[in-house]
Amino acid sequence: MLEARRDLRMSTVTTIAAVRAQVAEWRAARERVVFVPTMGNLHAGHVSLIEAARRHGKRFVASIFVNPMQFGPNEDFAHYPRTPALDAQMLADAGCDLMFMPEVGEIYPNGADQATRVEVPGISNILCGEFRPGHFEGVATVVAKLFNIVDADVAIFGEKDFQQLTVIRRMAADLCLRVEIVGAPTVREPDGLAMSSRNQYLDEAQRKLAPTIYRQLQLAVAALKSGVREYAKIEAAGRAALDGAGFRTDYFSVRDAKTLAPAKSDTKYFVVLTASRLGKARLIDNVQYTAG
Ligand code: PAF
Repeated sequence: MLEARRDLRMSTVTTIAAVRAQVAEWRAARERVVFVPTMGNLHAGHVSLIEAARRHGKRFVASIFVNPMQFGPNEDFAHYPRTPALDAQMLADAGCDLMFMPEVGEIYPNGADQATRVEVPGISNILCGEFRPGHFEGVATVVAKLFNIVDADVAIFGEKDFQQLTVIRRMAADLCLRVEIVGAPTVREPDGLAMSSRNQYLDEAQRKLAPTIYRQLQLAVAALKSGVREYAKIEAAGRAALDGAGFRTDYFSVRDAKTLAPAKSDTKYFVVLTASRLGKARLIDNVQYTAG
């Protein structure tokens, strides 16, 4: 557990100008700035990002912004859990120096619909992108804006959102951004379920079923480890097991972990990813494996 410290020093700001002024002071003092972008409703998974942040620099900035641009018209933007007071306490306890909690109008002064967009082609339209059109454009756009606002040396993203991390790495490289992107391992509940704000949408019975996702990913990786290279069979088995248990699976896929292209016979860095719906929740998870 993180000890409570420095909580009197955390500033909470809502404007871009205030973030820039504070970060400029730190940069002038040659202090390394680490940034953790979030949509709030922080849980232990976020705490691991915060711990990673502490290892990478002296000053730590977190943003809390539920980004309308990354939600589709029928998605959960309005209902996405918002717990700003708890988030602020958690960040303060974790030693955060600056919490940036802007209103939508600060980030999108002309409205999200009219804003200039950042599109990362190819990898944004596969896997989750196929089922959530425009989602990764919304993510890439807001993250590019936040990077320009915070001007951090390092930014930390969870590996649970593996495709998001891949999109952001590609965007940062393509746009020659100076920020270093660091991935932090997925944090799981004791039964294996990956931590996510959306786990709250599960009722008791669904919550008991939810760790099936991780078990199926582990079985897929076990097959890869044992030398199976018939990816279609691995994928069909994972999907059938999830659907048979009561999930509605969007995809269960064996991919190259660097490019997210379908795995080939000579693939070395694998990631098995899935998105599966259970009741009101759409759960995503993945497991990586490097062939020896
Ligand atoms: O992963 C999230 O919480 C969001 O997609 C992010 C990166 C903060 C962008 O809104």
